[in-house]
Amino acid sequence: MSWKEIYKNRLVKPEDAVTHIKSGNRVVVGHAAGEPTELIDAMVANKENYRNVEIVNLVVLGTAPYAKPGMEEYFHDNSIFASTHTREAIECGRADFTPCFFHEVPKLFRKGYIPVDVALVQVSSPDKHGYCSFGVSNDYTKPAAEYAKMVIAEVNPNMPRTMGDSFIHISKIDYIVETSHEIIELQPPKIGDVEKKIGENCASLVEDGSTLQLGIGAIPEAVLLFLKHKKDLGIHSEMISDGVVELVEAGVITNKFKTLHPGKIVVAFLMGTRRLYDFVDNNPLVEMYPVNYVNNPCVIMQNYKMVSINSCVQVDLMGQVCSESIGLKQISGVGGQVDFVRGVNMSEDGISIIAIPSTASKGKISRIVGLLNAGAVVTTSRTDVDYIVTEYGIAQLKGRTLRDRAKALINIAHPDFRQGLMEEYTKKFKCGF
Ligand code: COA
Repeated sequence: MSWKEIYKNRLVKPEDAVTHIKSGNRVVVGHAAGEPTELIDAMVANKENYRNVEIVNLVVLGTAPYAKPGMEEYFHDNSIFASTHTREAIECGRADFTPCFFHEVPKLFRKGYIPVDVALVQVSSPDKHGYCSFGVSNDYTKPAAEYAKMVIAEVNPNMPRTMGDSFIHISKIDYIVETSHEIIELQPPKIGDVEKKIGENCASLVEDGSTLQLGIGAIPEAVLLFLKHKKDLGIHSEMISDGVVELVEAGVITNKFKTLHPGKIVVAFLMGTRRLYDFVDNNPLVEMYPVNYVNNPCVIMQNYKMVSINSCVQVDLMGQVCSESIGLKQISGVGGQVDFVRGVNMSEDGISIIAIPSTASKGKISRIVGLLNAGAVVTTSRTDVDYIVTEYGIAQLKGRTLRDRAKALINIAHPDFRQGLMEEYTKKFKCGF
C-alpha cells in the first residue's frame, strides 16, 4: 500500500482518535510548543469515557486542562517539569512530579520504567516520501512515539519541517488528525538593566569560536545581546529561541569551529515566535535530535570550548545550586541544567555558568544565601558547579575551598545582603571575612 493510501485509511476526526485511549492508559503528550492542543482538547472533552488516564509531560506551554480541579477522576498528571499550568496541581497533590535528567527521559520510556501506551503528538505535513517532521519538538516527543504502543498525531501544515533525526513515517502513525492551528509561540522576555548587566558579565566569559548552550528566559536572551561582536560562535543546545536567529543573520553564529556537527546548529526543541519557526523550516543549518543525544553529557563534552548558561533560584555559600524549587514548592525541574553542567565539566576546555539576578521578589530576598531554604532541591551540586554570575560580577568556584567559594559568592551578592552573609561566613568558618 502506498503511504498516501495509508494516510487516507488512518485519517480520523479528533473526537474519534481519542476514543482509542482507554482507562488506565499512560499518555505521553508532545512537548512545549509542539503540544497537540486539538487532540488534548478532544481527549478532555471525552473524559466521561475514561478513568485514571495518566498524562506525562515536561514543559507545558498549553493550559493543561487535564490537570484542572475536577479532573482527578479522569486524569492524573505526572510532570517531569513543573510549568505555569501544572505547578498548582503538583502543589495541591492533584498531580505528581517525577525528577529526571532531561537526557534520561527517553530511557525511562525505552526501559519500561515509564512504559508508553499512547503518544499524542503533532507533526508537519508529510513530504513526498511520506515522512513527517517532529518540527519544533523532537526532544522526548520522537522517542515517546517510537516506544509507544499507539501513536495518534496531529498533522499540521504550520509545523515547520525541521531537519536532523526528526522524522516519522506515516506508516508508524496509527491515527492521523488533520489540524491547521497556529503553533504555540513564546514571545521574547522583557530584558531589564539587571539582566543586561548579567548578560554582559556572562558574555565576557565567552571566547570567539565557543559553542553555546542557552537556557530559557530573560538572562540567556540578554547574553545574546552582548555577543554581537564575537566571532564564529556555535550552538549545541537543548533549546533555542528567537535571539539565535538574529545572531545567525548577523554572521556571529557560524558553527565554523564546532568539533561535533561542524557548520550546524544542534538542538532538541524550539520555543519562540513564528520568526524562529519560519527560520528553521526546511533549513539544513539547523539539525534537531532527540534529547537523549543532544543532552547526553558524553555528546556535549565532544564540543570544543563549550559554554553552558543556565539560571537558578538560590545558591548557598558552598555553591549548592537550587534551580527548581522555592523551599518545598516545585516550580520547575532539573531540565537539561545538570546534563550540560556535567557535559561541560567532562570537556577539556568548556565552562558552565549559572547566571542569576542577585535578588528575587523585587529586591527583598537575596538569591545568594547562607543555607538553602528548608526543603530546597539541590539541582547542581557543589561538586559540579563552576561559574556563578550576577549583575555584580563573576565567582569562579571549581577547585576552590569552601572558604574561598563563600568569599567569592559574597562579593557578587547584592550589597544590601553582604553584611548578613559575612556574619554567616564568620559563624561557619570561625574567622573574620
Ligand atoms: N526566593 C523566593 N522566590 C524566588 C527566588 C528565591 N530565591 N528566586 C526566584 N523566585 C521567584 C521569582 O520571584 C519568580 O516569582 P514570580 O513568578 O512570582 O515573579 C519565580 O520564582 C521565578 O523566578 P525567575 O528567576 O524569575 O524565573 P526564570 O523564568 O528566570 O527561571 C529558573 C529561572 C531557575 C526557574 C529556570 O531557569 C529553571 O527552571 N531552571 C532549571 C532548568 C534549567 O536550567 N534548564 C536548562 C535548560 S533549558
